[in-house]
Amino acid sequence: MYQLNQPTFGRRPIHAHAPRVARTLLPPVQVIAVASGKGGVGKTNISVNLSVALAQFGRQVMLMDADLGLANVDVLLGLQPRYNLSQVLLGRMGLEDILVEGPAGISIVPAASGIARMADLAPAEHIGIIRAFSELDRPIDVLIVDTAAGLHESVLSFCRAVQEVLVVVCDEPASITDAYALIKVLSRDYGLRRVRVVANMVRRTDEGRLLFHKLAAVCDRFLDVTLDYLGAIPHDDYLRKAVQRQKAVTALYPSSPSGRAFKDLARKAARWPLPTGSSGRIEFFVERLVGSGFKEPQEALSLSD
Ligand SMILES: Nc1ncnc2c1ncn2[C@@H]1O[C@H](COP(=O)(O)OP(=O)(O)O)[C@@H](O)[C@H]1O
Ligand SMILES: [Mg+2]
Repeated sequence: MYQLNQPTFGRRPIHAHAPRVARTLLPPVQVIAVASGKGGVGKTNISVNLSVALAQFGRQVMLMDADLGLANVDVLLGLQPRYNLSQVLLGRMGLEDILVEGPAGISIVPAASGIARMADLAPAEHIGIIRAFSELDRPIDVLIVDTAAGLHESVLSFCRAVQEVLVVVCDEPASITDAYALIKVLSRDYGLRRVRVVANMVRRTDEGRLLFHKLAAVCDRFLDVTLDYLGAIPHDDYLRKAVQRQKAVTALYPSSPSGRAFKDLARKAARWPLPTGSSGRIEFFVERLVGSGFKEPQEALSLSD
């Protein structure tokens, strides 16, 4: 069992040994949203295991659980977080106070009903949540956001606020058509120009690429978006065993077929270009996130003026 979060009200519950770093010296944060058209394709498993594999490469990883569904990050890892982002939104706790430590030292932001509301918080709450993230003084290299399936507004605002969107597909007709529907909205309405694609639960070596080409062919034809193939995760009984034992397969069976595939994925993701300047600061992501839901009413207001 990993260390659970304790109320500390200002003190740091975990990583207490981490030196305080001047914020201006913190490295830029790469923010990656893991999304899919339909549920059950492996988003949470990919979010968790990509996080752990990146941490095993020495990256400081934060994993935000933005899906309120049943099989979420804490269930997958057998964690019982006592607090979540709701306490931060209410101004009762700092971000450090709610974080839970996961395998390989990843920091987990537990799911909260507040997450679905992030895009339509009141302006006063914007300031609180942005401050909560800007006060985080542990170095974070990568923030991975596990989103809900489909076209919920919260999913779209996460995908709009991050630098990289990773769409998970598997070999089911609904997975491809729903992934297409998601990419269509993201590119047409949210201006997304690039999507990374991961094929999950593949049963043959060429299956991932075939799935990718199927999806890329329709996107190329009808949408103004570039699809990049990141790789495939094989269908793996070791992953299922790890799920049953509430552990990450990358931690429990790192040499299993899926464990090795996650390592390959992480190796590629670690080479993605980093954001530069202030856009790479973690609070900038939160600013974009809470700002994205706020724009339209303002625009609508100015039009009717
Ligand atoms: N590569 C894989 N091999 C075998 N089973 C998998 C694989 N990926 C996911 N699964 C199984 O599929 C189910 C759904 O995975 P999950 O990550 O919860 O999907 P999502 O978050 O997209 O709803 C899990 O029960 C998991 O055991
Ligand atoms: Mg999930």
